Amino acid sequence: MSGCRCRLVVTVDGPTASGKTTLARRIAEIYGLPFLDTGLLYRAVARRLLAAGRPVEDEAAAVAAARSLTPADLERPDLHAEEVSQAASRVAAIPAVRAALLDWQRAFAARPEGAVLAGRDTGTVVVPEAPVKLFVTASVEARARRRFRQLRARGERPIFARVLEELEARDRRDTERAVAPLRPAPDALVLDTTDEDVETTVAVVRRHIEAWRVRASCSSHAPREDGVQPQPRSRRASSTGTSMEYE
Ligand code: C5P
Repeated sequence: MSGCRCRLVVTVDGPTASGKTTLARRIAEIYGLPFLDTGLLYRAVARRLLAAGRPVEDEAAAVAAARSLTPADLERPDLHAEEVSQAASRVAAIPAVRAALLDWQRAFAARPEGAVLAGRDTGTVVVPEAPVKLFVTASVEARARRRFRQLRARGERPIFARVLEELEARDRRDTERAVAPLRPAPDALVLDTTDEDVETTVAVVRRHIEAWRVRASCSSHAPREDGVQPQPRSRRASSTGTSMEYE
């Protein structure tokens, strides 16, 4: 890559369990870019409120939590508890919380080496000028099955009907909120992962990125900082040689 015009910033938005985080991580790994899962910011704010026994709708407390987040808050193992997931989509509907988290996300996207960001509004609000925007989706049943498997893998004993119900509730809140609702940017590449495995989707994205590079007259293939080149497009197996599942 050379110069600003060729700086690769990829936004990956989509609903819960659509596969966006798995895909975003792979793209970041292939192109050697830093990755930000923006959902963790909202989760960390929600967890702070729950830990302090504050109602999730307490705007002043939520904004204070958003302003004082530290990197350690994003690394806590309890951020993926269902209670935190539901509370996160509630705090995410508070405009002042979103505003408090915006500068930090934009600074991440402005890194000179480029960046990959995943979330709900990264392509529409955080970095609408990103050259590569993806919107990842899948049927609600496929997403509920993935979420169900994730919870089982964590040793929980979920009930499928309840997982589906909670996922639909979160979808509704995320798409119907007044500020930064979940929707594809007008120029986003929409990817439906219902019946596609991770590496097939990764191959589509790589072709999309290469097409952008050609249009922008940038050199092909960004070498990773560790010197590993991106894999050839035809290769469908993951970097470990095994088939990879959406998280
Ligand atoms: O992506 P994840 O499920 O971790 O996000 C948790 C919640 O945070 C989402 O349900 C959504 O309400 C909120 N969120 C958001 N905007 C983002 C990322 C996440 O509103 N960019």
